[in-house]
Amino acid sequence: MKKILLSGYMASGKSTIAQLLSKASGIPYRDLDDIIAENAQKSVSDIFSEDGEIKFRKLEHEALKAALSDDKGLILALGGGTPCYANNHEFLKRDDVMSIYLKASIPELLKRLRADGSGRPLFDKQPPEEQEEFVAKHLFDRSYFYHQSKHVILTDGKTTENIVNEIMSLF
Ligand code: S3P
Repeated sequence: MKKILLSGYMASGKSTIAQLLSKASGIPYRDLDDIIAENAQKSVSDIFSEDGEIKFRKLEHEALKAALSDDKGLILALGGGTPCYANNHEFLKRDDVMSIYLKASIPELLKRLRADGSGRPLFDKQPPEEQEEFVAKHLFDRSYFYHQSKHVILTDGKTTENIVNEIMSLF
């Protein structure tokens, strides 16, 4: 059974779509951030503030490798930075993986990040007047890695139901 990996920037809808896709397909889902937090016994924000980003990236890489180490079906919502570190983008290309980049525009991402409130250490530390430039540059730097996914789905203006159906049509 294939693993379905959802990649994309922070607040691109990976976790929401993973849950809905799981309901529609019957394939179990996990959120990679939740696995990392469970393994470390603390929140992602606490890992960043107490142990630093490099430690988080190591935990993220280990958790990803472990999640892909068996042949059970799984929908996995990645973190926004997952494909961009430690050669993790190579996992997106594996034969037993269906990887999907949920691609949203900068205005849409900003709107969602601002509405979502805190909990994303990299975004939370940006002063409001610098948020737009931060997201634009960050997304530019990361795009190459997201585009290593096998499929790209544009999400602006689509309902979650539309997006789930679009993914199911790829099965
Ligand atoms: C990160 C995104 C977060 C989380 C961590 C780092 C990033 O996940 O993994 O805060 O580097 O973009 P979400 O994309 O689920 O917010």
